[in-house]
Amino acid sequence: MSKTAFGIDIGGSGIKGAPVNLSRGELAGDRLRIPTPQPSLPEAVADTVAELLSTFEIEDDMPVGVTFPAVIQHGVAKTAANVHDSWIGTDVDALLTERTGHDVFVVNDADAAGIAEVEFGAGRDVPGVVLVTTLGTGVGTAMFIDGELVPNTELGHLLLHGTDAEKYMAESVREREGLDWETWAGRLQEYYAHLEFLFSPDLFIVGGGVSKKHKQFLPLLDLETPIVPAGLRNEAGIIGAAALARAAGKKSAKARKKAKKAERAAQEAQR
Ligand code: BGC
Repeated sequence: MSKTAFGIDIGGSGIKGAPVNLSRGELAGDRLRIPTPQPSLPEAVADTVAELLSTFEIEDDMPVGVTFPAVIQHGVAKTAANVHDSWIGTDVDALLTERTGHDVFVVNDADAAGIAEVEFGAGRDVPGVVLVTTLGTGVGTAMFIDGELVPNTELGHLLLHGTDAEKYMAESVREREGLDWETWAGRLQEYYAHLEFLFSPDLFIVGGGVSKKHKQFLPLLDLETPIVPAGLRNEAGIIGAAALARAAGKKSAKARKKAKKAERAAQEAQR
């Protein structure tokens, strides 16, 4: 199986992509970033993804993994917390496969970052329950049990003080409200203590852009569970997406397409 795959990270402000060396778990070439079209409608985003891919000379059969900030079930977006509502119900996998000509595998952004951390970063070889959280515009989570992902956990939307947790303690909230580190860490303390109570994890991993400033806030937290910054920082999404795309491989891609065909046939039959 090829040791290289391509990873793309679709975010609210930028779409970033690079080839990934999957033996080493690192980028295999320069990363390209193109601003996310506004409004971020499916067609426009798909065109940008195709444009990004076409600037790299990659083989047609190279697997492409793409992260997306929403619940992704069998390639279909089921939610749209921080992206345009028109994504809900979109078969992102099929749209990007058709538009780019590559076999695209779409995954929730936090799940992708988590896969990278567990394969190559701070969660490597850690048994038990590992909870990866990404602090950014929203809050993403990825849960692993002995290295196996439980997809789409969406724990950034747990309720805290009767409100969506990510609207209270995301990195974007720290910036918008101009919170000092101590005040923000107080909110993080409530959030992680709640996660700790619910899941008794063996390890918390904190990712997202702000994780490079972890010395400012992680030491202020008082938890029983060890809590560490992500090892791969902001490239985890690209690396995890590529790792998943390679793992999905041709075989399962065919199986997925077969399952989709059967699903479509069943829908037709119902009409
Ligand atoms: C979304 C998640 C996503 C997270 C980080 C949340 O608002 O619901 O799907 O993983 O933001 O982007």
